Amino acid sequence: MKILIQKTKPKDFLITENITRETFWNLFKPGCDEHLVLHNLRKSNCYISNLDLVALSENKIVGHIIITNAKVVDTKNKEHQVLCVGPISVHPEFQKKGIGTILLNESIAIAKKLGYSVMILFGHPDYYHRFGFVNAQNYGITTKEGMNFEPFMALGLYPNALAAMSGKFYEDKAFETNEEELNEFENLFPKKEKGKPKIDINH
Ligand SMILES: CC(C)(COP(=O)(O)OP(=O)(O)OC[C@H]1O[C@@H](n2cnc3c(N)ncnc32)[C@H](O)[C@@H]1OP(=O)(O)O)[C@@H](O)C(=O)NCCC(=O)NCCS
Repeated sequence: MKILIQKTKPKDFLITENITRETFWNLFKPGCDEHLVLHNLRKSNCYISNLDLVALSENKIVGHIIITNAKVVDTKNKEHQVLCVGPISVHPEFQKKGIGTILLNESIAIAKKLGYSVMILFGHPDYYHRFGFVNAQNYGITTKEGMNFEPFMALGLYPNALAAMSGKFYEDKAFETNEEELNEFENLFPKKEKGKPKIDINH
């Protein structure tokens, strides 16, 4: 299968939001809010159009990744610019064919070329270790609540990129959604039934 990666065009914003919704629906909770997060990231100052990418197969969008500006704040209140990866989605019918790998590798290459230093994400360790992501604890980076756990990972984009950085990670405010705006946003999409989550994130 030939996969082409390109920047997401504004005309494809709603399509990618729908793919994100299809991918995350009932995955970690009943329904999902990742499509609204994606929508709000695009309206935020953290947005980087060069790191909003689609994967195309035969001219059809089958996957998407967004990477946005975020920060690590150290104990002296100094802010270090980092990148926050996600949401990343490969349409359920196209998963396990290598598309996620292509999307991530291409994003990492673009981010390096643009001079960014560090990527941070929450995800499945087995999947992201292969790209070089490791538990952020190794670099003295915690969540904004001061927590560390295996799915919270960091990747340096050049040697020693993480050496001079430690502190708490703050992603953009767009990651916080509320029920009211989610319910209103849902009106733009075909109705879907909420159900039992496929993955229990607490285990
Ligand atoms: C996580 C996600 C983005 C990965 O994308 P993907 O395209 O399915 O990933 P890949 O195909 O690159 O890799 C997945 C697996 O398929 C395997 N694979 C890759 N190419 C393959 C091929 N041609 N044939 C068979 N298997 C293949 C990989 O080795 C990997 O195996 P493993 O993880 O079981 O060891 C996708 O599954 C997804 O959208 N999941 C739901 C949303 C989510 O959890 N997003 C991440 C959190 S933000």
